Amino acid sequence: MQYYNSIVDTIGDTPLVKLNKVTKGIKGTILAKVEYFNPGNSVKDRIGIKMIEDAEKAGILRPGGTIIEGTSGNTGMGLALTAIAKGYKCIFTVSDKQSQEKINILRAVGAEVIVCPTNVAPEDPRSYYSVARRLNQEIPNSFYPNQYDNLSNAAAHYETTGPEIWAQTEGKVTHYACGVGTGGTICGAGKYLKEQNPNVVNVGIDTYGSVFKKYKETGVFDENEIYPYLTEGIGEDILPKNVDFSLIDHFIKVTDKDAAVMTRRLAREEGMFVGWSCGSAVYGALEYAREHMKEEDVMVIILPDHGTRYLNKIYNDTWMKDHGFLEARDFATARDIVHSRNISDRLLTVDTVMKVNDAVRLLTKEGISQIPVTDGEQIVGSLTDSKILGQLIEKPEIRDSPVSELMDPPFKFVGLDNTLDVLSSLIDKENKALLVRDELNRVHIITQADLLSAMAG
Ligand SMILES: Cc1ncc(COP(=O)(O)O)c(C=O)c1O
Repeated sequence: MQYYNSIVDTIGDTPLVKLNKVTKGIKGTILAKVEYFNPGNSVKDRIGIKMIEDAEKAGILRPGGTIIEGTSGNTGMGLALTAIAKGYKCIFTVSDKQSQEKINILRAVGAEVIVCPTNVAPEDPRSYYSVARRLNQEIPNSFYPNQYDNLSNAAAHYETTGPEIWAQTEGKVTHYACGVGTGGTICGAGKYLKEQNPNVVNVGIDTYGSVFKKYKETGVFDENEIYPYLTEGIGEDILPKNVDFSLIDHFIKVTDKDAAVMTRRLAREEGMFVGWSCGSAVYGALEYAREHMKEEDVMVIILPDHGTRYLNKIYNDTWMKDHGFLEARDFATARDIVHSRNISDRLLTVDTVMKVNDAVRLLTKEGISQIPVTDGEQIVGSLTDSKILGQLIEKPEIRDSPVSELMDPPFKFVGLDNTLDVLSSLIDKENKALLVRDELNRVHIITQADLLSAMAG
């Protein structure tokens, strides 16, 4: 029989997968190490088990103990899986910029989660670093792994991630790229790779709003570099002990927007449904590769986690638009529906004086359910088949009346730039259709069927 004794035995040995589309025009082979194959769906499973086992060996963590950590979610998941396997309790402090999904996931695996404010200094007693530290002092037999300064973090990657990359590339790896948060992934695996081949180039990906790049390049810890940003998991306002700057050859900063857009491309073009910092890593790594890689070079990029944790953020079009990360032109609009029509198509209308019977015949012949009503050039009302049916059942004699007697108010006009989500929110039982004027001032009708076919693409 082939089985593992515990879920934590499945950690590591994640696959290397070639990037084929987003790498267009770049020389060399670009391989992604897809860490969402770990049981907790992130690279942090590797350090969870290592920090706990090292603490057990050092006698810091004893049976029945509590693990307390400040974590953006992924490390919490990694710690929680090992805690479950070994019977420890977990309390995690997270900052309020973290996605609700990450917090829910931690609670799902039995952890207690305390949400702390993001926009306070790390030494502020309300910060998630400080709260974790205080709980560690207050709760007996508790262990504070502190992924930032606990060198078991980098050691986990030195012992697993690095050797895996070396073996999987058969020693051909020339460049290693990775987002830098605690620094464990870049420095642990990067150290191992440089020991095998000192020419391996380690590229660290940083965010705008983080201190790393400037510190590496100038030795200055510049407070002015620190400001709030949205990307989760990378960049810091502190210098964690796991960051060994001598092991990182170059830093590249990536904006929240470039990272988010690249993450969505990875899902759509490569079939890799990954997390936000994966877009940062790939965007920054490719910027470096475009300038420096040769045909025979092999770059490995770490993709730390899975896309489910960001469904309500970067994978949500409305959220992307609200943050200015997608231009309005990236969305289908009323204009797209109008332009997809035949230029000779004219708006069908009925005049107020037309008999109801004739209007019904027209609707049936044209296979439509609603039509604007005009009085000369003016649109003065609307007719819908359901309304006519109801009226005909009540008063069959109405069939010989003019449509003006049972018409509803005109359909609402919308703008050409209104997006499909806005249009669909305006169409309901009461408002069966919308009207829009094109660039040549011609009026077009938009129905639910038009929206459906536009959404189906
Ligand atoms: C999603 C995500 N990406 C990247 C990283 C950075 O990895 P490291 O902390 O090893 O530098 C983290 C760490 O928190 C993370 O959660």
